[in-house]
Amino acid sequence: MSRGNHNDGPAIEARGVSKRYGRTVALAPIDLSVARGEFVVLVGPSGCGKSTLVNMLGALERSDTGVIEVAGHRLGRGARHLNHFRRMEVGIAFQLHNLIPRLTARENVQAAMLGAARRRDRVERSEELLDALDLTARANDRPPTLSGGERQRVAIARALANKPPVILADEPTGSLDDDAAELVIDIFKEWCLEGGTVLAVSHDPRLSSAGDRVVTIPVAAEGG
Ligand SMILES: Nc1ncnc2c1ncn2[C@@H]1O[C@H](COP(=O)(O)OP(=O)(O)OP(=O)(O)O)[C@@H](O)[C@H]1O
Ligand SMILES: [Mg+2]
Repeated sequence: MSRGNHNDGPAIEARGVSKRYGRTVALAPIDLSVARGEFVVLVGPSGCGKSTLVNMLGALERSDTGVIEVAGHRLGRGARHLNHFRRMEVGIAFQLHNLIPRLTARENVQAAMLGAARRRDRVERSEELLDALDLTARANDRPPTLSGGERQRVAIARALANKPPVILADEPTGSLDDDAAELVIDIFKEWCLEGGTVLAVSHDPRLSSAGDRVVTIPVAAEGG
């Protein structure tokens, strides 16, 4: 399975990356390097900036300092082709899922592929992902009628839809029972075996013990 033609550098490289919102230090300067094919679990106390970092690695937010490179793309000031990057190079499963409430589970997954794949492939890929995540029976239901764990799995399916080289998953197993968590963990492991890269933010020991490596972010300093 091709995951893009990139250079041989790490999948994720962050050096001196930090972010504040006003006087709030959302993320104190951090260095992080994740190799291609690696499954890294990111841990740290609530509020230390894990979701903020995910947003910056996904080019949804700009860092205040430092350098970020993801899948061979330099992010930050002057970065170009970010829409392509956001759609095709990185898949984000958000902590709060961020599904489109008016679309069914299936449509949420397919929407990620609009403009990126032919209709037939979108249909095939969405069925494959819904099946892999044990969601086939829920495919026609909309997020407000799904359980937390079902929504979480739809969000993961959506992140995987375009087969991006880098998956960023923010607490992907928080509302999953053991069986569903195992499904997700197996999918991530297989993803990495096939050359993809997963960075998962998680306090879940099921996930951290499955990952290749655990990285800890210290708590952010206040103000200043
Ligand atoms: N848009 C924003 N505006 C202002 N402050 C923000 C914003 N986003 C995050 N913060 C602050 O930045 C800090 C880091 O937030 P973030 O959501 O990244 O933490 P986290 O490590 O993901 O926490 P959790 O484990 O609870 O999900 C927090 O103090 C938060 O209140
Ligand atoms: Mg968070």
